[in-house]
Amino acid sequence: MSTPPSPQGDHRFDSAANGDAELLESHAKVAGKQTDEKGNFSLLPLGLIFGSSALIFWAAVYVTKFSGHYDPKMFDETAPPSTGVEVVAKVDPIVAGKKLYLSACVACHLPDGKGIAGVNPPLAGAEWVLGSEERLARIVIHGLKGPITVKGNQYNGAMPVFGKVPGSGYNWSDDKIAAVLTYIRQEWGNNGSAVSTELVAAIRTKEGGRKEWTAEELLQIP
Ligand code: HEC
Repeated sequence: MSTPPSPQGDHRFDSAANGDAELLESHAKVAGKQTDEKGNFSLLPLGLIFGSSALIFWAAVYVTKFSGHYDPKMFDETAPPSTGVEVVAKVDPIVAGKKLYLSACVACHLPDGKGIAGVNPPLAGAEWVLGSEERLARIVIHGLKGPITVKGNQYNGAMPVFGKVPGSGYNWSDDKIAAVLTYIRQEWGNNGSAVSTELVAAIRTKEGGRKEWTAEELLQIP
């Protein structure tokens, strides 16, 4: 037979024998209500807590705003240093003009620019296309109607209004007008100079939203 363990010297038996006062004291210790006997710890200063919270918040906002979603394209260390000059892709007026011609003029003046005899005058080799830019631009900006002679033949129809002017079904920008004019002056063997956007803009400002021109009116303009 083994001897039962002696309660003497075993702390578990000691605490079991604790009275109310000892129990309360040890609970108070556990609950942290008693002063820290070693005295080595103190609360973090509130200012430091708020300060670092604010810093973390600011950093989160900063990263969200400026990280570029961590897209590798945002930072290219192999790119040459910027010259500070923005590179703008130039649109070739002939390419743009051809597109515009094929979308809006081709039905009447045809792909070869020869027009339709007796109805729509030709643009290929036409004196109105190759001559004064001032007259040509006005025809396309404001339209044209009434009798006109082109390459020795009489026409008497109506040419639509293309410019950004009241009554225009097309409302083309000065850029577009300049591009299509440059195109018709240089296609089908035509060898006229390019027409600038500035010229178109200046004419539009000068003439405003007037009605269609007649050939007779245009001939007064140099
Ligand atoms: C609905 C048919 C029609 C369309 C679309 C049209 N034109 Fe015309 N165009 C005419 C007619 C008709 C005349 C002659 C007007 C007249 O008899 O007074 C003319 C005249 C002209 C003239 C002067 C005469 C000549 O042949 O040189 C030019 C330049 C011209 N058009 C360019 C264009 C351009 C550029 C476009 C497209 C942006 C265009 N036209 C779209 C019918 C059209």
